[in-house]
Amino acid sequence: MRVLGIETSCDETAAAIVERDADGHGRILSNVVLSQIEEHAPYGGVVPEIAARAHVEVLDRLVSQALQEAHMTLDDVDAVAATAGPGLIGGLIVGLMTGKAIAMAGRKPFFAINHLEGHALTPRLTDRIDFPYLLLLVSGGHTQMVLVKGLGDYERLGTTVDDALGEAFDKTAKLLGLPYPGGPEVEKAALLGDRARFTLPRPMKGEERLDFSFSGLKTAVRQLATTLEPLSQTDVNDICAAFQAAVADTLDDRVSRSLMRFRQSFPDVFEPSLVVAGGVAANKELRARLQRLCSDDGFRFIAPPMELCTDNAAMIAWAGAERAGFAPADTFDIAPRSRWPL
Ligand code: KG4
Ligand code: ZN
Repeated sequence: MRVLGIETSCDETAAAIVERDADGHGRILSNVVLSQIEEHAPYGGVVPEIAARAHVEVLDRLVSQALQEAHMTLDDVDAVAATAGPGLIGGLIVGLMTGKAIAMAGRKPFFAINHLEGHALTPRLTDRIDFPYLLLLVSGGHTQMVLVKGLGDYERLGTTVDDALGEAFDKTAKLLGLPYPGGPEVEKAALLGDRARFTLPRPMKGEERLDFSFSGLKTAVRQLATTLEPLSQTDVNDICAAFQAAVADTLDDRVSRSLMRFRQSFPDVFEPSLVVAGGVAANKELRARLQRLCSDDGFRFIAPPMELCTDNAAMIAWAGAERAGFAPADTFDIAPRSRWPL
């Protein structure tokens, strides 16, 4: 089973071909991603209208490139999968309609994929892990802790009540005059900073429910920056270090509670796994903290390779391939959904 995947939910246009064999093992035959970061950078964030237009301009070419790199033509594709949500509606329309058109013209089964399901199933492609496992998704648009029990069987344990974690990094960077996307910039500055000079809040720490909240942290950064103005480079570095320390402590607290919850739900799973996905998973300090937490609690720590952790179409093709093995294809009347909880 070879599936063409299309992803256009945010600011990456992507196409990929993934193969799933009879044993359920996956292989990526091609995976092309075109980031629009440069087009959005002057605005300090993703501009939906610019994103949708950029997807239209490049998607055809990326699909051809994905086929070419896999040494295939459309005739060799067994099914088509496209992201139908959640995300920016203009971009979703572009990818979903393109996917449907290709499937319809080639008389192929079509799968409309939830972007979050794509992230959730990626470790089964990269690490061949079995259900159930825990997924921490931390990106620019999402912050979720999900119990992945089986194909199509997901329980959201917690989510952010306000900003996504990547968004908090980006907004903090913007406040401090650092470029977009802010995550890598904050990480770089934090390495040079003194994390003990300022103490920032640890939102939700100690709370029983497994949700996240980051807007208070961002507000605290704004207040601190205002009192220090004009900011020196040392101030910026120290604030970034304090911000990252607060995020690391918060994640540590939220994740360790989730691991406990997993153990209660699945006491018989011998070596459970925590999978981390999303752009923020690139952060070395956060990664190291989570890794330590997992090894202390007897969990396997799985972070798919960065190019499969951030938005891509291989994960969409793979979700389609997994679904194709178990369920009938979707009908062509399926509509894009800007909001679509797992
Ligand atoms: O998953 P992703 O590439 O795209 C979507 O959000 O869909 O995630 C991008 C987010 C941005 O907010 C970016 O600032 C953040 O991930 N990010 C980081 C790092 N690298 C990227 N955040 C913290 N530390 C990093 N090293
Ligand atoms: Zn994503």
